[in-house]
Amino acid sequence: MEAPQFSDLNPSPRVLLGPGPSMAPSRVLAALSAPLIGHLDPEFLAVMNQVQQLLRYVFQTQNELTIPISGTGSAGMEAALVNFIEPGDNVLIGVNGYFGERLCDMAGRIGAHVDRLERPWGEVFDPDEVNAALARKPYKLLAVVHAETSTGALQPHVAEIARAAHAHGALLVLDTVTSLGGVPVEIDAWDVDIAYSGTQKCLSCPPGLAPITVGPRARAVMHRRATQVPNWYLDLSNVEKYWGQERTYHHTAPISMNYALREALRLVAEEGLPARFARHRANAELLWAGLEELDLPPFVPLAHRNPTLTTCRLRPGLDDVAVRQGLLNDYNIEISGGFGPLKGKIWRIGLMGHSSRRENVASLLTAVRTITLSA
Ligand SMILES: Cc1ncc(COP(=O)(O)O)c(C=O)c1O
Repeated sequence: MEAPQFSDLNPSPRVLLGPGPSMAPSRVLAALSAPLIGHLDPEFLAVMNQVQQLLRYVFQTQNELTIPISGTGSAGMEAALVNFIEPGDNVLIGVNGYFGERLCDMAGRIGAHVDRLERPWGEVFDPDEVNAALARKPYKLLAVVHAETSTGALQPHVAEIARAAHAHGALLVLDTVTSLGGVPVEIDAWDVDIAYSGTQKCLSCPPGLAPITVGPRARAVMHRRATQVPNWYLDLSNVEKYWGQERTYHHTAPISMNYALREALRLVAEEGLPARFARHRANAELLWAGLEELDLPPFVPLAHRNPTLTTCRLRPGLDDVAVRQGLLNDYNIEISGGFGPLKGKIWRIGLMGHSSRRENVASLLTAVRTITLSA
């Protein structure tokens, strides 16, 4: 067989304003090229400890078991379910968008009896309806998406939902893939049992790790299991030994990705969470005002609109695909379309982490105006 020959890698300088990945700052990209060391090298163990401390800061938690899972956000999602669900367990899942559907799919594959608490795409759950649903039968676990990337809705009242779950003896799993580092996520104050995220959204690190945090209630459930976790790679009772005191080999940690995450989290800590949230909010508000002016009104009501991921309605006659292609090809700007029931009806615009900047909002609005006027 002939050896394939390709040219040097030369990706275009995209402005990433889609639902992820967001743009990685140069300090994060530089960290990726630091020399490799072994995954049990004392210097790497120090990096691991720092990553854990920084993750506790972004998750606002004291949880000891706070680590990056090796894998993208979906690996975090899978770990958040497979370690706590045993075959035959009842689980309740909030489905108000695509990622609620994915949670149902995963929980079903683990052998759970899955009940869906449904809301139309773009809406959020009221704690009273969650409470009423939890009262119907004993549930082991309730899972809710904090920021639904398919719709742009941000679930409020997480503390009330956690209280309802605990009153009914259920654990609360929270998907914070699109919220962590961009809007408040307060694991301890809200009393969330398990939360997971991804590195490529508001943390502005490349995709590849899934931060997860597990509280004491959930950890006890995990250690009381009657059956073995059916997924070897994501079995936290083994993974926690590598990240904890024992430091026993489980799998080779993705060294460079942990360097990058450390740097991305250092940037979050330097900026400080309150300032970071204020920046995300301010830039989102600029975008919302600009979209209104362009007759592309935000899809989600202000009360539960997510500043990190905006969805806007497309007016009739606007060529969804052509405009997005024009943005990418002529302006190097990536945004995304809707899918599922929102296909062709909305755009999804991410202002996450390093991508959340005034100049990006201004460039996007100018480019959309130019393309749509010339169409
Ligand atoms: C809310 C939410 N959950 C889970 C995921 C899955 O993450 P990944 O694509 O990194 O596996 C995503 C990805 O966009 C997401 O937006």
